[in-house]
Amino acid sequence: MEADKTNMIEDYVAVHTDDVSLLLEELMAETENITGRSFWSIGKVEGKLLQLLIKMSRTQRAVEVGTFTGYSALVIAEALPEDGILTTCENSQEYADIALQYFNKSPYGRKIKLKLGPALQTLRNIPANSEDFVFIDADKPSYGDYFDEALRILGPGGLIFVDNVFWRNKIFKKKITNENAKAIAAFNEKVRQEDRVEKVMLSIRDGVYLMRKK
Ligand SMILES: C[S@@+](CC[C@H](N)C(=O)[O-])C[C@H]1O[C@@H](n2cnc3c(N)ncnc32)[C@H](O)[C@@H]1O
Repeated sequence: MEADKTNMIEDYVAVHTDDVSLLLEELMAETENITGRSFWSIGKVEGKLLQLLIKMSRTQRAVEVGTFTGYSALVIAEALPEDGILTTCENSQEYADIALQYFNKSPYGRKIKLKLGPALQTLRNIPANSEDFVFIDADKPSYGDYFDEALRILGPGGLIFVDNVFWRNKIFKKKITNENAKAIAAFNEKVRQEDRVEKVMLSIRDGVYLMRKK
């Protein structure tokens, strides 16, 4: 019954949200064909929310942690201004190759700089106060470190958007045994206690944390 209700709400929300570009739909289908993991990609509702946030905040420079096959990177690039730049971090050559193929197909792909390697290393090479927007969506045990780096590289008023903060609803269990869920629960508590950001947690898809650096 509860699952039916969740599906009903998600279907209704999807119908009342703009569609994404045809290229993004193509990439989602190809991601499923090649990897069988298209559920890793944020999808259209979260994607549209990201695009609106990028536009409303007039973001020029964005950073993404976790490119995968490039769906969310292209979502962000489509919303950035002509001279906007997205730095996106991925440590898998296989996924990066698919992403690069799609960045080349898109008129917005030239705004994207893909950094192959451990995301934390890439973030540490970004100057302080130089970015407007950080999207975190990679390995869950490192979320706390990515958050610390995001606070360093963002200027005042910069936004942080974090995916999967419900970790497939496993964080709601009385006794959390799943390692990723434990890491996410600890991350959520770290953010809750952090006074340097204004924050709201949203029950969209697998849960999203949206923050603004004060
Ligand atoms: C959930 S997927 C990202 C999905 C993507 N944001 C989207 O919506 O299309 C997470 C990605 O993070 C990558 N990743 C995991 N650990 C990483 C690390 N330490 N450094 C860089 N990338 C990492 C994985 O290879 C995977 O492609």
